[in-house]
Amino acid sequence: QQDAVVVPGASSSQGSAALTAGAAAATSGYTAQVVMPWGTPINNNGQAWNQNLAFTPEIQANSVGMHHDGMHNFPISDDTASSNFIMALNNEYIDQLALFDVISTGVAPQGYDYDAESRRLDRNDQPRAADDSRTEINAHGVTVVELRRNENRVWDVVRSSQYNRRVTSATPCELAGPVAGSDYVVTAYDNTGMSTRGTNNNCANGFTPWGTYLTCEENWPNVFRKDSGRAADDNRLGIPTGSTRYGWETSAGDATESADEFARFNATPTGETAAEDYRNEPRTFGYIVEIDPYNATSRPVKRTALGRFRHEGCWPGKLVEGEPVVFYSGHDSRNEYIYKFVSDAVWNPADANTAGATTDRLAIGAKYMDAGTLYAARFNADGSGEWLELEPDTIVPASAGSRYAGMTLASALGLEAGDRAGIIIHTCDAADLMGATPMDRPEWGTVDPVSGEVYMTLTNNSDRLPEGQSPTFSNGSSIEEPGSAYDEAPVNAANPRVNNNDGQVIRWVEPSPGDTRFSWDIFVFGALGTDSEADDYNRSSLTAQNYFSSCDGLWYDDRGDGQGILWIETDTGGTDVTNDQVLAVVPQGLSKGDNASVIHEGNQAQLKRFAVGPNGCEVTGIFATPDKTALFINIQHPSNWPIDDSGSNTPDATVEPSGNVRPRASTVVIQKADGGQIAV
Ligand code: FEO
Ligand code: CA
Ligand code: CA
Ligand code: CA
Repeated sequence: QQDAVVVPGASSSQGSAALTAGAAAATSGYTAQVVMPWGTPINNNGQAWNQNLAFTPEIQANSVGMHHDGMHNFPISDDTASSNFIMALNNEYIDQLALFDVISTGVAPQGYDYDAESRRLDRNDQPRAADDSRTEINAHGVTVVELRRNENRVWDVVRSSQYNRRVTSATPCELAGPVAGSDYVVTAYDNTGMSTRGTNNNCANGFTPWGTYLTCEENWPNVFRKDSGRAADDNRLGIPTGSTRYGWETSAGDATESADEFARFNATPTGETAAEDYRNEPRTFGYIVEIDPYNATSRPVKRTALGRFRHEGCWPGKLVEGEPVVFYSGHDSRNEYIYKFVSDAVWNPADANTAGATTDRLAIGAKYMDAGTLYAARFNADGSGEWLELEPDTIVPASAGSRYAGMTLASALGLEAGDRAGIIIHTCDAADLMGATPMDRPEWGTVDPVSGEVYMTLTNNSDRLPEGQSPTFSNGSSIEEPGSAYDEAPVNAANPRVNNNDGQVIRWVEPSPGDTRFSWDIFVFGALGTDSEADDYNRSSLTAQNYFSSCDGLWYDDRGDGQGILWIETDTGGTDVTNDQVLAVVPQGLSKGDNASVIHEGNQAQLKRFAVGPNGCEVTGIFATPDKTALFINIQHPSNWPIDDSGSNTPDATVEPSGNVRPRASTVVIQKADGGQIAV
């Protein structure tokens, strides 16, 4: 069974066995519709898309953002939840070539030179134009819109719904939890350290049982620079020096509004105190951000208790009345960690979301997400694991091999006793000291709500050394030194492949939500079956039916009676073997009695390729309507720009293929032509 849906735009893709099979499947009952591509107006202040549309800050602020990633659906009423709901969508980053229509006009935005040969923009020494920076800032963030299906099962944005809004890299956000109001986040924007502007590089997502959206700040360090006055966390998280990803800090802000709208991206100290400059601005990023999709005037809240790092996403664990609410989160960088937050408050089912109700959902969020304990994961070779507490008075264990063994985390990190804000600011250094297991780039997680099993993709790792070799560190010092990270780390039981190009899905389960012990296994190892792979590389015996690489998006689709479908999405940007894709399997569980070995000898053979995307894209973001008749996915960065001009790579089917087409990231909804349930 290799049937796969072909996403619009994929028909031009070359050299993929998957696509051949997919073409057959596309006639066997599934349809794929593009909905809300980048640039779709969300209200009457936006402008209808056309190939030559010149984006302004105003147009982009009133249109769907760029580079769709994580997303979630929120019912407006229980009766219509499968045909009409609020969609919250992350817009992770931008493609300046498409945003400013550079390829067809040949004109570079100020601050760049355009290399038409390689289709590349190279930064020159001119400052960025303020409106260009604003347009880019407004293309980032989150899009919230109402979506509705018509009688022909065609989906579209409900223009000017009361729920529609954009949250961008400039939207005022509250800080909450241990870091809020601390000296660590005092800036010239808010001397009280209780707020900041914007959320950035929102990659995967999460959701809460009380009906809010969680958007997660991943590659945010790159929009900042800090040339002097650097602290351990700047080095540990990799805040650049000298330049930023887009040069926003070089734009001249509007003095009549806020002269510091762009200066804040340069965190180099300029004043006497933190209250006079933006040295602490990066410390207001790196969090899980909670948004109430039902209230378009509510401010997003950065929930700092869940740690500060390059958060890929955030997923709630199994809910049990009277037990803590837990959230899992991964740090997507090579040799970084998996984390778990355990709330102080215990779950009260009265706090569960009521569709459309005017509850203060962010107050419920404060109850469960501002007070609790953060842990980092250690995966032992025998299939057991432990959550390592990260509190100021936690004792650094001798087993971690650190010269700080026996000290408290606070004193090992040079913090005042009891400084919980400091532990959060230095989350990664704290996890280093506790001996957390360096992972192969944690991406998405998902939870079987019945068994409580957690699945997480580990996408790949080019910095994984053979067994017995000594690790290397980012600053040449050792891992226990504040500011130092793993550069290369030797294989371990949970990350056992050297030169792991293709990644794996790891899984664990705890006796109860708040328990610090767990059992784990590897659910499946990715592989592409290429000649260079060693004999023991394709450990899950994948075949042309289900080869995959760089697993990223993930969703456990609960189908009741303890059964579900595990959907796996990939992000390689395309390979010779297959374009990026969606795979599916009905998993046999750890908790279902077959966890005898660490390497799962389970049902990988049933893993099926379900859909394939256009050239150059990644496939990400996923949910289905409650009735399971519509599966929503996202196609991010379609096209091979700037690699070639094969054209026809936009999933927007309304656009005629052309070598100069502006590719548009899009949501795609897959439905059965007969209106039946999506099945595998
Ligand atoms: Fe934005 Fe880790 O993917
Ligand atoms: Ca991405
Ligand atoms: Ca991702
Ligand atoms: Ca990825």
